Amino acid sequence: MNPLRSFRSLVRFRPIELRSSTRRLARAASVDDLRRQARRRLPRAVFDYIDGGAEDERTLDRNVSGYARLEFRPRVLRDMSNLDTSISLFGRSLPTPLILAPTGFTRIADPEGELAVARAAARVGVPYNLSTMGTRSIEEVAAVSNGPKWFQVYAWRDRGLIAELVGRARDAGYEAIMLTVDTAVLGRRERDVRLGTTLPPKIGLNTIVDGIIHPAWTYGLVTNEPITFANVAGRHGLDGSSAITLADYAASQFDPALSWDQVEWLRSQWDGPIILKGVQTVADAELAVAHGVEGIAISNHGGRQLDDAPPVVELIEPVAQAVAGRSAIIADGGIRRGGDILKSLALGADAVMVGRAYLYGLGAAGEAGVDHVLAFLLDGLRRTMALTGCRTIGEIEPDLVTWRRDDPSTTPWTGGH
Ligand code: LAC
Repeated sequence: MNPLRSFRSLVRFRPIELRSSTRRLARAASVDDLRRQARRRLPRAVFDYIDGGAEDERTLDRNVSGYARLEFRPRVLRDMSNLDTSISLFGRSLPTPLILAPTGFTRIADPEGELAVARAAARVGVPYNLSTMGTRSIEEVAAVSNGPKWFQVYAWRDRGLIAELVGRARDAGYEAIMLTVDTAVLGRRERDVRLGTTLPPKIGLNTIVDGIIHPAWTYGLVTNEPITFANVAGRHGLDGSSAITLADYAASQFDPALSWDQVEWLRSQWDGPIILKGVQTVADAELAVAHGVEGIAISNHGGRQLDDAPPVVELIEPVAQAVAGRSAIIADGGIRRGGDILKSLALGADAVMVGRAYLYGLGAAGEAGVDHVLAFLLDGLRRTMALTGCRTIGEIEPDLVTWRRDDPSTTPWTGGH
């Protein structure tokens, strides 16, 4: 027998893929793979700004590792031929319990920035939450996405500015406002301190060397319009047109006096759903309900603010029990797989948010990378539902998960304080 022919009958060559981003994505089997690819493609300061957290990064790590402390109690023989991942949130039907979190300065990962993320979100009907610190404006994002859009605000010292942004979001068809409440001052992100990171990235000796090592990123930076805070374009000192550290920016612009009465003030400006992002105790969840907010995002800002804040996964159950359906609960931190979404819902969350996961995709391969992450998470959710016997989101019940007995640190955080 002709050895070449028998070799050919055993081996099938794949067509050669020419686009390097498509080749990269074909090899990215997980969010962790995309993170590694993003680390190679992005300059160090950019990757570390996205990837890093506060101080010793314990909360950052535990947001993710906390999900490994839960195991499933899968049910079988339940006819999984028809799976439905849809939910209803704030009176709207959504295809899945996934929301894309607001992230600042998204254009440092890819020149299209927020536009790429919003388009990818709209393709699967997932709400995209634009950040005030976004580098594409409320209106630019609305022009490319007719999917559900939410807008996030910080407590600016200038209340008039918040009112203006909220009004613009309303006019552009955004459906919910998310108020970030964990940023009285900026957390100490020591990777940024060490590298002297400013936003936008300053061209110094390091950046030039980094630029040579990361030519694709540098080409994108120099061939596109300058990166600024697009929502406040043209406002001197506010729009990021001169490089500043984020800590200095936050100290000069954010109001450390933010308090509960401003939640009521925000209500006077916006009649749609309000979500408080950054609730980290049962006590504050109770206060949020008392102030009538429609949504509570359990969040420690991705471990970027207070180190040793409780990992999100450990807070879901106590907060959900206290809130008892009076407000929707969104778990925001540490989700890297569809199974993590299922675990969050079993503990009592109504939906989850991801931030870094999609930024890794964006940094690794631009808009196609965001599509890849969304497909990965949603496919993972469906697969894990099928393997655990949940046909609908409503069937994801508390007894689906249990804290691992073999883990010495298993006592879950019990809330309070
Ligand atoms: C951050 C701000 C922009 O975490 O939310 O970097």
